[in-house]
Amino acid sequence: MPNISAAITPIISVNRALRTPLHRQIYDGYQAAILSGRLRPGQRVPSTRALASELGVSRIPVLTAYDQLSAEGYFQTRAGIGTEVSLSIRSQVLQPKPGAVPRTAVSRPRIGKSSLLPDSIENSPWPRGWGAFAVGQVALDEFPFQVWKKLLARHSNIATTGYFDYCDPMGLRQLRQALAVYLGTARGVQCGAEQIMIVNGSQQALDIAARALLGAGTDVWTEEPGYRFARSVLALNACRVIPVPVDNDGIDVAAGIKRSPRASAALVTPSHQYPLGCTMSASRRLELLDWAARARSWILEDDYDSEFRYECMPISSLQGLDRNSRVIYIGTLSKVLFPSLRLGYMVIPTDLVERFRSIRFAMDISPAVFHHAVLTDFICQGHFARHIRRMRSLYNARRKALVEAITAELGDGFEITGAQAGMHLCVVRNGICDREIAVRAGQAKVWVAPLSSSYAGKSPRQGLVLGFCSTPAETMRDAVRKLRSAL
Ligand SMILES: Cc1ncc(COP(=O)(O)O)c(C=O)c1O
Repeated sequence: MPNISAAITPIISVNRALRTPLHRQIYDGYQAAILSGRLRPGQRVPSTRALASELGVSRIPVLTAYDQLSAEGYFQTRAGIGTEVSLSIRSQVLQPKPGAVPRTAVSRPRIGKSSLLPDSIENSPWPRGWGAFAVGQVALDEFPFQVWKKLLARHSNIATTGYFDYCDPMGLRQLRQALAVYLGTARGVQCGAEQIMIVNGSQQALDIAARALLGAGTDVWTEEPGYRFARSVLALNACRVIPVPVDNDGIDVAAGIKRSPRASAALVTPSHQYPLGCTMSASRRLELLDWAARARSWILEDDYDSEFRYECMPISSLQGLDRNSRVIYIGTLSKVLFPSLRLGYMVIPTDLVERFRSIRFAMDISPAVFHHAVLTDFICQGHFARHIRRMRSLYNARRKALVEAITAELGDGFEITGAQAGMHLCVVRNGICDREIAVRAGQAKVWVAPLSSSYAGKSPRQGLVLGFCSTPAETMRDAVRKLRSAL
C-alpha cells in the first residue's frame, strides 16, 4: 500500500458567484470526497494556509470548514502528523451495503481476450516467484549496486537542463556511441551511433519496428515455439502471426516459404533460439537473408541473451552478415543488467532511421534520459564489460550444476536442450502435462514455465523451461528434487 499521508490537495472548488458561503462550499467538497472514497481514511489533508492559498481565499472560511469537519468526525488531528481523514470513517463509509452491486459490475461491455495477448507476468496461470527456476531472472545479488548507486548520485548532483527537457527520440548520443562500439566489437554488428535507437526494452523496439515496417494484416513468420510476448506485440499491430517450425538449425526457412512466401517479416532469435536454445546454423542464416532480400521482407533479429555463451565464443549477429539492409537488430539490457531498467536498443538500416525516429516521436516523444547517462558511465568506466565477464562465469557454474542435478534426479526420460548458452534451458518430454506441472511446482516454490505456452499453434511439445541464473549452484540439487516431486 503506497503512503497515502501526503497532503495532496483534493479537487475542491469554490465559486464566489454562488450564494452558498465559501466555508460551506469547502465543507461540502470534503464531505463528498470522503463519502465517495476519493479521500481515504488516514489520508492527510493540506494545511488551512496551503488550501486557502490554493483556492485563492482567506484562511477564515477554510478554518471554519475544517473545524466543522473535525467536529463531525470527518477529520482527526494527530500530534506530529497533522490533520487527516478520520480512521473511523472506514467502517461506516467504505464497506458496501449488504446486497449492493459493485460499481464495476454494472453494464461494462465485454472485452474479448485474444489468445495472442498473454496474461501479464504477475497474472500468468502458472505461478512465478523469486528464485529457482524463474525464467529471465538475473543474479541480482551479484549486481554491482554500489557502483550503480554512486553513478546515480553523481548524475543527480551534476544534472543539467539537458536531463530535464525533451531529448532526441533516438536517445542520449553518448550512450549510442558507447553501444555502437560495444555492438561492433562484441556482437559483430555493423553500425554507426546514428543508427542506434535507445528504447524501453526490446518489447518497445519490436512495437516501433512493426509500426514502421509492417502493415495491418500482413504476415509475419514467428518461430514455433517462440517468445510469446513478442507475438503479442505483432497481434497489437494487427499482423498475422505465421508460426514456422524450428529445428536444430533454427527457423525452417523452406517451411516458412511454403506457408507464406511473401511474408513482410521474420522474427527470429538466431544466437540462442527462445525457448529451445539452438543456434541458427550458418547455412540457415544465409538462406534466411537470401529469402529476405528476394522477397523484400524484413528480419527482426532478437539478440536477447547472446552475451552468455559457455562452450564457444559468442556467435556473431545475423545483422553483421546482411549485405542488403534487411535486418533490424534488437538487443536488451534486461539480461546483462536487470529488467526493471527497461532499457534496450535497436539498430536501424540507415535509410530507415528518419522513419523510425518520427514513429518514436509520435509514440512517446523521447525516452527518459537520466538512466542513459548513468549507463554511459557504467559502460565507459569498464563496469559493464567486467559485470558481463563475472556473470558469464557465475552462470556457467549454475548451468553446469543444473544439468548435473537434472541428470541425477530426473533421469534420462527428459531431453535437455539449449544448455550451451543463455540463461535458461529446456527439458522436453512428451506425454506429460507441462502446465499442470508448472502449477504444482509453484506450490513447492519452484517456478518453471511450461514449454507448451511458447507455441502459437496446435500440437505443442511438452516440457519445462528452467532459468538457472538466480539459483545458487549449491541449492540447485535441492530445487530439482522439489521439481521431481511435482512431476
Ligand atoms: C526472447 C526474448 N526476447 C527479449 C526479451 C527481453 O525483453 P525486454 O527487453 O522487453 O525485457 C526476453 C526476456 O525474457 C526474451 O526471452
